[in-house]
Amino acid sequence: MKKLQLICNYLIYRLKSKNEHGVHSPFVYDLLLSTIYNKKNFYVYLQIEKLRTTLSLSNQKVVCVDLGAGSKVNNSSKKSVQTILSSAAKSPKYAQLLFRLVNHFQPATILELGTSLGISSAYMAAANSKSKLITIEGCEEVAKVAKESFQKLELKNIEQVVGNFDEVLPGVLKNINQLDFVFFDGNHRKAPTLKYFSQCLEKANEKSVFVFDDIYWSTEMKEAWEEIKNNEKVTVTLDLFFLGIVFFRKEQVKQNFIIRY
Ligand SMILES: C[S@@+](CC[C@H](N)C(=O)[O-])C[C@H]1O[C@@H](n2cnc3c(N)ncnc32)[C@H](O)[C@@H]1O
Repeated sequence: MKKLQLICNYLIYRLKSKNEHGVHSPFVYDLLLSTIYNKKNFYVYLQIEKLRTTLSLSNQKVVCVDLGAGSKVNNSSKKSVQTILSSAAKSPKYAQLLFRLVNHFQPATILELGTSLGISSAYMAAANSKSKLITIEGCEEVAKVAKESFQKLELKNIEQVVGNFDEVLPGVLKNINQLDFVFFDGNHRKAPTLKYFSQCLEKANEKSVFVFDDIYWSTEMKEAWEEIKNNEKVTVTLDLFFLGIVFFRKEQVKQNFIIRY
């Protein structure tokens, strides 16, 4: 999507978005106050941000295989860790939101599509040490750097899977009884996003939470987000512009909320 179009989309989002005062759903209102707008500084934020700083200074070069849409910065096959970090990792604001969502919902099983250097994985795994986080990454060398980070942070509840989502996701899902939380953060194209969504949906339950990254990143992602919202199993959706959050709770009326964040 062209930069100008993205800015226009963002301005429309800002005009339409509402905070807790404009939301009439008690479920969304509570979630905004308890979690989404929670400004508490958790100790682990500092630890993970220290690691981000270390990675941002690393000139180590790793081979990256371009497996999907996702980087508008640099598609070359060898990149420095600092370049990958600046173009791929979720910013503290959104990574910490993932932490708070996991902390709030306490999912037992978390799946992440797109580990990269492991920043968002670290936040989600640290939010609930009792949960098991399975994170998939297609670039072997990038996944290796993430593994070192998980060891430094002493995160023991992460299982890494290296491979193309298209090839490894069915096998990963086969071994999972129930998916409680999924973060879709790789291969930002319409058809693959919808395919991964429907595959994960098979293992979702009423209490599952799905989070989609960059729902306005491209026209394809906007179309994918529209289809996801319209899926018959989806009830409440929250549009935070850079993230879309999906709920399946049957007691909730189907509604999309454009939330200022
Ligand atoms: C935006 S990055 C993930 C960032 C990470 N979640 C974070 O916030 O720290 C997306 C990652 O998904 C991986 N990826 C994209 N398409 C893939 C595919 N089809 N199979 C496996 N990995 C893929 C890329 O290699 C990249 O590392």
